[in-house]
Amino acid sequence: MTSDKPKHTTTDAGIPVSSDEHSLSVGPDGPIVLHDHYLMEQMAAFNREMIPDRQPHAKGSGAFGHFQVTHDVSQYTKADFLQPGKKTEMLARFSTVAGESGSPDTWRDPRGFSLKFYTEEGNFDMVGNNTPVFFVRDPLKFQHFIHSQKRRADNGLRDHDMQWDFWTLSPQSAHQVTWLMGDRGIPATWRHMNGYSSHTYMWVNAEGERFWVKYHFKTDQGIKCMTQEQADKMAGADADYHRRDLFDAIKRGDHPTWTLQVQIMPFEDAKTYHINPFDLTKVWPHADYPLKEVGKMTLDRNPVDFHSQIEQAAFQPSNAVPGTGFSPDKMLLARVISYADAHRARLGVNYQDIPVNSPKTPVNSYSQGGQMRISHSTDPVYAPNSKGGAHANPERYPEDAVWETDGELVRAAYTLRSGDGDFNQANDLVNKVMDDAARDRLVNNIVGHVSDGVEEPVLSRVFEYWKNVDQTIGERVEQGVMANRRENGQ
Ligand code: NDP
Ligand code: HEM
Repeated sequence: MTSDKPKHTTTDAGIPVSSDEHSLSVGPDGPIVLHDHYLMEQMAAFNREMIPDRQPHAKGSGAFGHFQVTHDVSQYTKADFLQPGKKTEMLARFSTVAGESGSPDTWRDPRGFSLKFYTEEGNFDMVGNNTPVFFVRDPLKFQHFIHSQKRRADNGLRDHDMQWDFWTLSPQSAHQVTWLMGDRGIPATWRHMNGYSSHTYMWVNAEGERFWVKYHFKTDQGIKCMTQEQADKMAGADADYHRRDLFDAIKRGDHPTWTLQVQIMPFEDAKTYHINPFDLTKVWPHADYPLKEVGKMTLDRNPVDFHSQIEQAAFQPSNAVPGTGFSPDKMLLARVISYADAHRARLGVNYQDIPVNSPKTPVNSYSQGGQMRISHSTDPVYAPNSKGGAHANPERYPEDAVWETDGELVRAAYTLRSGDGDFNQANDLVNKVMDDAARDRLVNNIVGHVSDGVEEPVLSRVFEYWKNVDQTIGERVEQGVMANRRENGQ
């Protein structure tokens, strides 16, 4: 609340201080003294202002808003916040993946698209990207992938040779790399990009019927992208361009919106569909599973404190409310574990006590103690109990977002289906979605990227990789890179 009354500076304990400018000293020219608590507090707080960056997705920003259901999807899910007409408060955070917290917003990279819905049955988080697929399909490869996109051990520099080394030795990356090197690898602003769950999730309706679902948040502002040249220029002119654009738009009342559409696959279809529907490197073609509209997300409120509301925001795919659930996608199952672990490491065990992360519903979890605990524990502190404490309600909330599975414990790739090649959907993207001008920009982007530091033996593999995506694109990439090398005397 603001007031016209003048405000007086205080210590963090609320005690009025006598100066904003002068330390306590022995005479005007003498030494400062140790019991100047206010000076000590200012220095100590300053030394502890920084918290660790998120490991990936460090640079980003976000805003608050709401999600309004406009279409009836109750036949597919009983999730309370997805019932007809329902309106739910929410938070969104957008980010780049590889850069540190001060890195330019316009580097070529996928963009994070994290959403937290404060539903009446607890928080639901959709932690997606602006791309419908991902670079790898096994979580054991994720850490290596991120390392290859970040910085070398010796000189601390990013290194295209390292990136292409990983990508070409991991052909499952081809679809996402094609997407990344195309126009959508650099959105014009966060307002002008789509968000996708990428993963397949589960929905369960009131009858206990299960469906597989993919979320698509389509921008109502229209897709707009930057060329490599525009992005390079912007990286120098305004490294925070995307952060600024979102904040300024909301501030001037230009509230961005996205329409949520979903693809729904009947539970049994997954067993026989020609593409493994849980493989994160694949989309479900729209012709097979058309988009159905659900509702609209509007961002209309800026944070007032970036640190406590955005930097300390903790999104986790494990936040699935009744009527929603996971799928056998190995990447998703790993993410269900990884994020809460990251939050405990970065923010502390009681990160869900931070207001931006707290559900707007009562928490009756029996967790207690730990550093920085704010919420109160109450008796009884154990379950089951006969003292009036919370008890689970399996009749109302059955464990129904489940699936059947069996088999030996193995370390193996997914069983291959007829539509499961590494390159076929990348080829569709190049040939069925892009036009000639978009293909030209794709080739230019790849040639520019590869000409910047990629050497043998990686170089030959790069040409092979693109010929596997599309013979003509591969040949054009090879010609372009070799011409650049000749020009540079390489
Ligand atoms: P469709 O023709 O039905 O869909 C093509 C999709 O491609 C549209 O969703 C469109 O998104 C998107 N798109 C348009 N231009 C680009 C671009 N330059 N880079 C990335 N995406 C773009 O075809 P299918 O569903 O059969 O999919 C064909 C290919 O389209 C896939 O292999 C995949 O690479 C890509 N794609 C498919 C999606 C899916 O969920 N099926 C989602 C996004 C991409 P928009 O409507 O926003 O313009
Ligand atoms: C952030 C792990 C795959 C989207 C993070 C963070 C970790 C992580 C540890 C930092 C979290 C934090 O400190 O707040 C993983 C693992 C993956 C994986 C282990 C695979 C096994 C993916 C995929 C997507 C994705 C496939 C998108 C579909 C994001 C986003 C963020 C993020 C958007 C930023 C969250 C925010 O805005 O705070 N990831 N990730 N990740 N990841 Fe992943």
